[in-house]
Amino acid sequence: MSKVIYNKMIDDDYFMLKTDTKVDKVYPGQFFMLRAWDLYPTLSRPISIYDVCEDGLVFLIESRGIGSKLLKNLKEGDEIKVFGPYGNHFEYENIREISLVAGGVGSAPFYYLSKCLKKANPDVKIDLYMGLRENQKLEKCFEDLGVNLIVKKGGFITDYVDFDKKLIYTCGPDIMMYKLKDLAEKNACKIYLSLDKRMGCGLGACLSCTCKTVNGNSRTCKDGPIYKGSDILE
Ligand SMILES: Cc1cc2nc3c(=O)[nH]c(=O)nc-3n(C[C@H](O)[C@H](O)[C@H](O)COP(=O)(O)OP(=O)(O)OC[C@H]3O[C@@H](n4cnc5c(N)ncnc54)[C@H](O)[C@@H]3O)c2cc1C
Ligand code: FES
Repeated sequence: MSKVIYNKMIDDDYFMLKTDTKVDKVYPGQFFMLRAWDLYPTLSRPISIYDVCEDGLVFLIESRGIGSKLLKNLKEGDEIKVFGPYGNHFEYENIREISLVAGGVGSAPFYYLSKCLKKANPDVKIDLYMGLRENQKLEKCFEDLGVNLIVKKGGFITDYVDFDKKLIYTCGPDIMMYKLKDLAEKNACKIYLSLDKRMGCGLGACLSCTCKTVNGNSRTCKDGPIYKGSDILE
């Protein structure tokens, strides 16, 4: 069992939750299953790692339905179960130029990823694109990273992506990621998508999270959530 170190609102939609969970190693793009209730709702909720600190883990969460609202109401010192880390991860070694393209809270994994990219190569050039709604202020959670932050409120973030950088990682709503995948392929860019499927166990046992790939059905919780664009069959 972990304890909440802090839980603070970022704007009307998003909050940042830090827990005192200690783990040996977490890679960017991995996720944890969070649970701060007994029986209902039945399932724990998958949440990506936003940041890893010496004294715990940080998550950036959108308040949507019953699970995230229960997480939003947690106070300092409250107990929470944090299972993980699960899933595969974004590569961050040997990368010199990269575009990270996020819709809303799909930006969450890109904070820790950017830190790891910069640690692996201090000269790496990172463009972080964020598509947000007008009232959202999520960009302030990324301003201290020292990356080139491109924020668009309203409209389609995909319209602003510069395809000169030949490697793209994306996370966000399906409609955004699949449009970007098409554009990336037309511009000869390599693209990786972090798929956001409803998950049951997070462990590869229940098959509730499968997607179709060129190699057959794949469990996004165990084999994913990150896939090469050319491997995914929509
Ligand atoms: C690998 C992975 C990493 C994720 N990382 C984050 C993160 O860092 N921060 C964050 O805020 N959210 C993240 N999510 C999404 C998050 O898990 C869901 O928003 C959450 O489970 C919703 O639970 P709820 O009880 O609040 O909503 P529910 O009451 O279950 O549903 C409320 C609404 O949210 C929609 N919804 C629920 N689950 C998902 C989902 N997985 N994808 C899309 N829509 C969903 C429902 O269709 C419904 O409209 C991640 C999902 C996955 C699969
Ligand atoms: S969530 Fe159960 S197999 Fe993926």
